[in-house]
Amino acid sequence: MELEGKVAVITGGAVRVGRALTLALAEAGCDVFIHYGRSAAPAQQTRADAGAFGVEAHIYSANLADAAATQGVIPAAVDRCGQVDVLINSAAIFPEEDTFSTTELPLWDKLFAVNLRAPFLLSQAFAAQIPPDGQGKIVNILDARLRRPAPDHFVYRLAKGGLWSMTEMLAHELAPRITANAVALGAILPPPGEDVTYLENLAQTQVPLKQPGSPQIVAENVLHLLRQDFLTGVVIPIDGGQFL
Ligand SMILES: NC(=O)c1ccc[n+]([C@@H]2O[C@H](COP(=O)([O-])OP(=O)(O)OC[C@H]3O[C@@H](n4cnc5c(N)ncnc54)[C@H](OP(=O)(O)O)[C@@H]3O)[C@@H](O)[C@H]2O)c1
Repeated sequence: MELEGKVAVITGGAVRVGRALTLALAEAGCDVFIHYGRSAAPAQQTRADAGAFGVEAHIYSANLADAAATQGVIPAAVDRCGQVDVLINSAAIFPEEDTFSTTELPLWDKLFAVNLRAPFLLSQAFAAQIPPDGQGKIVNILDARLRRPAPDHFVYRLAKGGLWSMTEMLAHELAPRITANAVALGAILPPPGEDVTYLENLAQTQVPLKQPGSPQIVAENVLHLLRQDFLTGVVIPIDGGQFL
């Protein structure tokens, strides 16, 4: 797909990895519809920075834990932009405390709502507005830790695992109109409260390539998946070999 002149919706597109994806798409000539939850000020900054590439940039807030609000995102983008060609499901929750023995229902429900149900509802609405002879692209942001089963981040893993499966199922279901691919991230950005030293130490001890990734590397791989018309159901691990 030629990205210039297309319209992309990026969930969680105001900050961190989502912001890098927004800016890379804008630089490639896509109009961007930047979804955010609570990051209103960063969303405005990202809109301004994306607009500097000469594309249209919109911001839109919706709580992805709320099904009705989630279902409003794609219609709002169509209303403002006329069509949506690209959907990037990046927004997610990564809780600090998430174990088999301590997880309670509210956390379970919230994680499944934001990390799995929201990408499902967004993909459903996205697919419905692609015309029968049209072309669409979905890219989901997964976690490379799922390459290696372990009990850490219990519900997070289950929900992201569902999104991994959904990527492959949608590749079947939505072909040939729409491709569904994903990137599975390793150590890209430190969690809140940690700085870059945290990632560098982790890279030295756990990453075969002895370096952390970066949001720019993620963006390059997402753009690659979007530009390819013969790739679907593909998951690119971006983890420096950490979870091999
Ligand atoms: N950072 C990494 O190294 C890493 C590693 C593995 C996987 N990943 C995956 O990569 C993606 C981006 O990671 P990140 O670290 O940049 O994410 P992050 O800093 O945790 O940001 C999460 C994003 O999700 C949005 N979000 C969370 N809950 C929401 C809700 N209820 N409603 C609406 N939006 C909500 C936030 O929006 P607001 O701020 O506007 O509320 C924010 O933009 C995620 O899918 C994550 O699982 C990241």
